[in-house]
Amino acid sequence: MKVTASANANIALVKYWGKRNEQLILPQNSSISMTCDGLRTVTTVEFSDNYKKDTVVINDEELKKDEKNIIGHLDRIRKLARIKSKARIVSETNFPVAAGLASSASGLAALTLAATRSAGITMDEKELTILTRMGSGSAARSVCEGFAIWHRGNKEDGSDSFAETIAGKNHWPEFRMITTIVTESKKKVSSRAGMAQTVKTSPYYNGWLDSVDDDLTKVADGIKRKDFQTVGLAAEANCLKMHALMLTTKPAIIYWHPATVEIIRAVTQWREEGLPCYFTIDAGPNVKVICASMNEKEI
Ligand code: PMV
Repeated sequence: MKVTASANANIALVKYWGKRNEQLILPQNSSISMTCDGLRTVTTVEFSDNYKKDTVVINDEELKKDEKNIIGHLDRIRKLARIKSKARIVSETNFPVAAGLASSASGLAALTLAATRSAGITMDEKELTILTRMGSGSAARSVCEGFAIWHRGNKEDGSDSFAETIAGKNHWPEFRMITTIVTESKKKVSSRAGMAQTVKTSPYYNGWLDSVDDDLTKVADGIKRKDFQTVGLAAEANCLKMHALMLTTKPAIIYWHPATVEIIRAVTQWREEGLPCYFTIDAGPNVKVICASMNEKEI
């Protein structure tokens, strides 16, 4: 059956950076994100015995190699469905791929939703987040609407490392995240490779693990109370702490461009001048600015 599904990117307010299990993609820490309605991937999957091989087309371009581990994820789904058919996957995103805008998150979530249905598997949301997680960690959160938490979990088999919504999309409609595009070029170090190197080599990694629970509490509580300042300040500090881990990785991972720093400085200055806004940055140079809808135009 040919099935189309869509999923939206999510941007973490408390970041995931580091795995405790590389194969199952189990994180070292829990993370919290918001799913963004403007950044969307729409994916169509068709398993058919008429196909001789798997084909993947992203934004009109056929992938020559399995860059994003898409075939590995399809194999996982084929195994669950006990089928051997090859698939054709056609995917469109409305934003740049691999530029730190969480394209892998919406991509893997949309793929999981479409491919499971196309293969005839029925799963509840929790199971879907677990399966999506095995394709790309942060993608688990893109299965959920609104603000989502991805639990670290403690079990070796990953059955308690799933994502769930902590506040639905109608909870805080004034919450905005503005994406700046500093560059559309692909990043040199993938988050997968980068975080593995950080866990191995950054002398600050234990400091991250010791302090991240406090960030999670602050952000979750701020979301519940719809308190911009609490969420914004905690998200900003958490992002800077993650980039400190990247900078202290050996060899150093520096995702920022000059314009990244310019935007950070602008956001800080606007805040000093009385315009409430906060930034967050993922594994890339593009800055996202958090603000209330009433200030969106001005920012
Ligand atoms: O799931 P990945 O491999 O795309 O890693 C995501 C890492 C960050 O975007 C930097 C943080 C996060 O929690 O989304």
